[in-house]
Amino acid sequence: MKRITILTAIIIAMFAVNSFAQTVVKKSTSKTTVVKKTTTTSSAKVSAVTLEQGKQLLAKNDCLSCHKMDVKIVGPAYKDVAKKYPATAANYEMLTQKVIAGGSGNWGDVPMSAHPSVPPADIKKMVQYILSIK
Ligand code: HEC
Repeated sequence: MKRITILTAIIIAMFAVNSFAQTVVKKSTSKTTVVKKTTTTSSAKVSAVTLEQGKQLLAKNDCLSCHKMDVKIVGPAYKDVAKKYPATAANYEMLTQKVIAGGSGNWGDVPMSAHPSVPPADIKKMVQYILSIK
């Protein structure tokens, strides 16, 4: 009789451990889904790597001598640029061309210098980073 009781106890314990393990697995899977969702919405189809490269390129080029993130100096604050233009493919393209050519008119009479020697792909990454600033 004793043996049967011990066996039953072991079987019950095994069931308990098994269902506990399943709950843990379920919990961790739902966590991963949540993380994935946040990444897609916050980066608006631009990868986190590209955004980080864009941020570093701003510092490598002359951009930050005329622009700051949240206050206007010679050029508009990048936060204001991000407010004015939604992060769309058309705006990435339009602003990339504007940074290459330079010029004035959208924020006042002071012109931005032209950037003909900066690779357009680099400028696009910088623009994508700027429009991601909230
Ligand atoms: C000599 C100063 C100066 C430098 C250097 C400069 N900018 Fe500008 N930037 C300006 C000014 C001034 C404006 C506003 C132009 C206007 O009114 O259309 C501007 C506007 C912009 C805009 C908004 C354009 C628009 O049409 O609304 C973006 C984006 C931008 N700059 C990005 C950059 C990037 C990226 C760099 C570096 C590669 C850079 N700027 C370097 C002065 C500068």
